[in-house]
Amino acid sequence: MNKRIPEYPVHELLLNRWSPRAMSGEPVSHNELMSLFEAAKWAPSSYNNQPWRFIYVTKDMEQWQQFFDLLDPFNENWAGPAWALIVVLSRKNFEYNDEPSKTCSYDVGAACQNLALQGHASNLVIHAIEGFDYDKARSELSISDEYNIEVMFSVGKPGKVEDLPESLQKREIYSDRKKLQELVFKGKMP
Ligand SMILES: Cc1cc2nc3c(=O)[nH]c(=O)nc-3n(C[C@H](O)[C@H](O)[C@H](O)COP(=O)(O)O)c2cc1C
Repeated sequence: MNKRIPEYPVHELLLNRWSPRAMSGEPVSHNELMSLFEAAKWAPSSYNNQPWRFIYVTKDMEQWQQFFDLLDPFNENWAGPAWALIVVLSRKNFEYNDEPSKTCSYDVGAACQNLALQGHASNLVIHAIEGFDYDKARSELSISDEYNIEVMFSVGKPGKVEDLPESLQKREIYSDRKKLQELVFKGKMP
């Protein structure tokens, strides 16, 4: 396995969280799953509005296939051995005054990162997925216009790289990042 090299020291949890695709197909317990949502719930949000909402399904539920069929073919190709799929929403308006929140997606992003970090710490495979049918999800899962659909997550137990489709095996490595000098600017944009 390749190694990530940070430019400056960071906590190993942040450095080594990643998005594998290989999963064993084993169940993830109810408590393990709820710990992910618990982690998400402690994220900060504007006005402490907590705009995150999560709709989940597990393999042992009748609705599994309905969620799985939302995935595009690329993601269907590897996500079969996941134990849970989670659709993540953001409530568009603040609850205290029903005015639009500019940061609802930002807030939910923070909650999602908490979820992903907790999953990594719990030795689960957490993979964010944009490749699914957002319109179909809205109608099939009864999601009203009050909410943005942000992303989906697959959750599973770690599996073997060899069990992935061959085309994906070589992608099962730590990805790298841009250098800080491309991302961080003193005073104004260049
Ligand atoms: C919002 C979001 C959507 C993503 N959608 C997909 C997806 O549809 N399919 C996929 O295989 N990976 C998806 N990814 C995973 C990214 O490709 C991955 O996070 C990125 O390459 C960085 O790798 P790392 O998470 O291992 O550090 C998504 C990630 C995020 C944050």
